[in-house]
Amino acid sequence: MRFACSPSPWSEAVQVDLLACFVSQPSDGVPAELLPIDQALDGLISSLFESGDFRGEAGEQLVTWTGGRAGAPRLVLMGVGENPDPEAWRLAAGQVARLIERYRVRGAAVLASPKATRNVVEGLALGVYRFDRYLKDEEQFDSSETSVQLLGGDDVEAVRRGELVAEGIAAARDLVNGPGELVTPSFLANWAQEVAEHESLDVKILDANACRERGMGAFLSVAQGTNEAPRFIHLTYRPAGKPRRKIALVGKGVTFDSGGLDIKSASNMLLMKKDMSGAATVLGVAKVLGRLAPDSEVHVITAATENLLGPEAYKPGDIVRASNGLTIEVLNTDAEGRMTLADALVYTSQLGVDAIVDLATLTGACKMALGDRIAGLFSDPDELGDEVRDAAVRAGEKVWRLPLDEVYWDRMKSPIADMGNIARSPGTPGATTAALFLKRFVHGPAWAHLDMSAPVWTERDEGHLRKGATGFGVATLIELITA
Ligand code: BES
Ligand code: MN
Ligand code: ZN
Repeated sequence: MRFACSPSPWSEAVQVDLLACFVSQPSDGVPAELLPIDQALDGLISSLFESGDFRGEAGEQLVTWTGGRAGAPRLVLMGVGENPDPEAWRLAAGQVARLIERYRVRGAAVLASPKATRNVVEGLALGVYRFDRYLKDEEQFDSSETSVQLLGGDDVEAVRRGELVAEGIAAARDLVNGPGELVTPSFLANWAQEVAEHESLDVKILDANACRERGMGAFLSVAQGTNEAPRFIHLTYRPAGKPRRKIALVGKGVTFDSGGLDIKSASNMLLMKKDMSGAATVLGVAKVLGRLAPDSEVHVITAATENLLGPEAYKPGDIVRASNGLTIEVLNTDAEGRMTLADALVYTSQLGVDAIVDLATLTGACKMALGDRIAGLFSDPDELGDEVRDAAVRAGEKVWRLPLDEVYWDRMKSPIADMGNIARSPGTPGATTAALFLKRFVHGPAWAHLDMSAPVWTERDEGHLRKGATGFGVATLIELITA
């Protein structure tokens, strides 16, 4: 989908296949910016408002034929409700995108609040996202041929920004939707290498031997169970001038989580290709990092492996040593994400960064606590958590702070190692003890952790979201690094 700003508002000169107007208030009359269109349609819009048939509530949609008036055969009124936030704009724009697809529109014009340009672009671009590479080419609609005019808009920067955010999110969705058989650790490493060339990033890939030399016993213990070679991936973006600050983004990169010897049930295993969503999110950001050109140095890191149960698989009761020297008793092989992140966090702590943000599909407990649309946020100190939360609000993603309270640490203790990898239940909050475990491997930088087991995936088509991967976290991280 291509976007163009058209600084003048709607006029008879606009000739498109579909004209979409976003209406942002449950309003008593026709909003002023719609009046010229209303006139061209001989008062059609005012009658719709007068009759109460259209009110502009969030999600409300009305499609009508114009009889060729107003420069478009189809008029769409799309409600965004009162005081729409970024997500409301994106959902509404995603709904318009579905209509663009349904009517196979080649040229569209949209009228929205200039303040929402960026989110409207994100919603339109993501609303036509599809993961269709495995489907036979029926008559798929190719949205790359569609151009959209943003009426009354001149904020080229906002359009550009919306396009980059959408590109990063679509890249993350592709990686998560891709089957585990394709999206292996080596696939991620090759993908990262290509992105590094395209976006002028430094790239460093460590194989199993290089990880062994660095003493990454926790990460490698998980990798033992599979024939797929593990890959430790590190991309670096350096700004032209002196960096304002240095920040590292670390993603959990378990490309398939069977649970290991503590094997998952069939239904719990079914979607475990998504267990590399943290990696997909940080790599999605990397995909646009050179073009975003933030003034901070940004490191993107993932320790990628499968968690399987081959003959060499790590076993319950094993004791492994992480790269900071701490020993871990493996009490459950399905608590593998924290094992891989432990060594990734130790490595990242040594880069001299000011802040680390890690993102992980870490615990089912977090899903129980916050449901499928909100990620759990932990941080030390609180200030970095505040920053991540504010970035999420601006990005229109939902996060909620959970306690990183040491009161629960004694449950993670082991009599024969420095810690176990799971807590003694009952009464233990699983997302908190997982976060407390990670904290043991952060040495120096401020640190925030997003447990996003649930919001990385959706079972529903809704607005800019499609059944499947959501690309959760990309928009928040982009806000954070460009703030
Ligand atoms: N990848 C899972 C967490 C998960 C669950 C992600 C559901 C997405 C949806 C993680 O590796 C895991 O298995 N966690 C265990 C930890 C337990 C053994 C302490 C869990 O949450 O059950
Ligand atoms: Mn697991
Ligand atoms: Zn996992």
